[in-house]
Amino acid sequence: GDPEPVQDFCVAAPRGDGEASPAFPGLPCKPASTVVSDDFFFAAHARGASTDNPTGSSVTPGNVEAFPGLNTLGLSLNRVDLAPGGVNPLHSHPRSAELVHVEDGEMLVGFVSTEGKFYSKVARAGESFVIPRGMMHFQYNVGAGAARAMTVFNSQLPGVVLAAQSLFGAEPEIPDAVLAKSFQVDAEIIKLLKSKFRKG
Ligand code: GLV
Ligand code: MN
Repeated sequence: GDPEPVQDFCVAAPRGDGEASPAFPGLPCKPASTVVSDDFFFAAHARGASTDNPTGSSVTPGNVEAFPGLNTLGLSLNRVDLAPGGVNPLHSHPRSAELVHVEDGEMLVGFVSTEGKFYSKVARAGESFVIPRGMMHFQYNVGAGAARAMTVFNSQLPGVVLAAQSLFGAEPEIPDAVLAKSFQVDAEIIKLLKSKFRKG
């Protein structure tokens, strides 16, 4: 998780504004005299983003960049929406554990440990599953209807490493030979994957 705060709050200043806080290695604080109730309020999770995309999923972020009042507080949350059959694709968070709290529908939630063991459960409305920090994980809608979860983090900026995107969509590209040897497949398969994840 993040460092402990040493003050009541340090609402993040708009980019390029505010003083760097010597008290916390987060974002600079806006002057306390300008802090208002709305700085502690976040409404963007009242609606989910469209799931009309190749994975049938959307993540609406609620990290410190979206919700400046979280700065120095060591927590954040996302909203995850999954169409039927949709998957929030394999990824990991370098700076945070993740609590997946399902609010609607049924999703298979799973992660793989450093020992290569796969842990997973189907979680339904009101149920939670926890992903330890840094572990590769996903949510997969196994119900008949749409599914929704809130994901809660012990970091204001968990960071995200999208597995397929970071390997096959890196800019500039990782050499085909490196990926082909790493995955023990033909370069043709790597080219196909790159065609899906590289822009342009
Ligand atoms: C879900 O895994 C998320 O990172 O919000
Ligand atoms: Mn996650």
